[in-house]
Amino acid sequence: MWMGIDIGTGSSRALLVDEHGGVRATYTVAHEDMRMERPLWAEQRPENWWDAAVQAIRGVLATAAIHGSQIKGVGLSGQMHGLVILDAEHQVIRPSLIWCDQRSQKQVDAVNQKVGRENILRYIANPVLTGFTLPKLLWVRDNEPGNFDRVRKMLLPKDYVRFMLTGEFASEVSDASGTAVFDVVNRRWSFEMMDALDLDRDILPTCYESSDVTGAITPQVAALTGLAAGTPVVGGGGDQAASAVGNGIVEPGIVSCTLGTSGVVFAHMENVAYDPAGRVHTFCHAVAEKWHVMGVTQGAGLSLQWFRNQLAPGAKYDVLMDEAARSPVGAQGLFWLPYLMGERTPHLDATARGGWIGLTNSHKRADLIRAVIEGVSYSQRDCLQIIELLGVPVNSVRASGGGAQSPFWRGLLAGVLNKQVVTLETQEGSAYGAALLALAGTGAYGSVPEVCHHAIRETESISPELRDAAFYEKGHRIYQALYPALKPIFAEIAEL
Ligand code: XUL
Repeated sequence: MWMGIDIGTGSSRALLVDEHGGVRATYTVAHEDMRMERPLWAEQRPENWWDAAVQAIRGVLATAAIHGSQIKGVGLSGQMHGLVILDAEHQVIRPSLIWCDQRSQKQVDAVNQKVGRENILRYIANPVLTGFTLPKLLWVRDNEPGNFDRVRKMLLPKDYVRFMLTGEFASEVSDASGTAVFDVVNRRWSFEMMDALDLDRDILPTCYESSDVTGAITPQVAALTGLAAGTPVVGGGGDQAASAVGNGIVEPGIVSCTLGTSGVVFAHMENVAYDPAGRVHTFCHAVAEKWHVMGVTQGAGLSLQWFRNQLAPGAKYDVLMDEAARSPVGAQGLFWLPYLMGERTPHLDATARGGWIGLTNSHKRADLIRAVIEGVSYSQRDCLQIIELLGVPVNSVRASGGGAQSPFWRGLLAGVLNKQVVTLETQEGSAYGAALLALAGTGAYGSVPEVCHHAIRETESISPELRDAAFYEKGHRIYQALYPALKPIFAEIAEL
């Protein structure tokens, strides 16, 4: 069997697959709450990830009632972009600034100033964003010089767990792509970027392709977890790339739409292409020598969660969906802007704000809910549109995540995107993708796509209703006009 370990934000999860990629057991261990000491700050303790990972490994072996020696390979995935810094004794210097930490706007501005936006795009194929790892490291340099002087290694969250498992400082191309110091086109660290910012190249770990073996379980870890010493650990992937492997997004034409707290449209690319405006991320895929592009709606499931918590406390999501289904297509002219946490794609605007537009006296709660679902779906269409503009073919969309559990939302999504929406037999997310990467790297298969072809099966396919699709075409145009009209007001609101 093969093991995937996902270091998420809320929890760490271990999952076992057999040689066909069938899921045999899973075990999840919750993390401590993230520390948000100030607005825009978000920190977690890497030591807590490690403790959770150890418990998850022991838990999944016990659940499956197997001996560690039956595990032939381990793959890792994890929340992307987080900064873990280690000192000369390999101890964690300070808590990790994680992916959603937004404190580093000053450092982003400074990088743009010092390196220049055109050079940045040339070096890393993306703009530098506050969420990425580099500006977080620069924040430590600017604000905690004592801590910065002690930095000997900089690791991503899952790569810290890899170091604890194997003693190796290693990363892989998909997660490294989200650091802003990785040359995505040439699949290597961007020493140009490091040098331009006077950063020590030696703090970077060795970078591998995602299904390459990066090390092996140490005897101490074997004693602690029940895994066998010497078990190979492959690169794995950032959570989005790993989840895409789990969804079989490993060839042109199939795109995934993951409706979790955030919503991510993810497409495979044979050749690297990037949006000069940086509205979607162009990163290395977890498939050797391939890339991917992804657009992110910050407040997808979050919009519905907010609605439920504030306006329908205690209501079950499927009840809210049934209610929304009673509202007609277009929610009687009501629109929802899902910008509850600002927006990444397509606006890259932390000051954007959410809200309903078009309310009248005749609107009912059903319309409010339907508008929320439609607004989030329009935002996912924004992501898809930019991806198609890059020349990426899109034949069908594989839907996953909490939102895609609803047949109503899946049908609506097919209409808004005007694409075939498909669901899969196994929806186990990133840990599943990490296990498939282990299977690809240490099993009997020749490549990641070969594993995916063998393991992943579609179960349902919904075609867009022609009439709905025609309506949503117009609806999307109106939706797209709302943000530019409101942008100056959002800036004023943010100033208030
Ligand atoms: C990807 C991203 C999130 C995090 C946390 O760009 O920010 O997917 O990896 O899940």
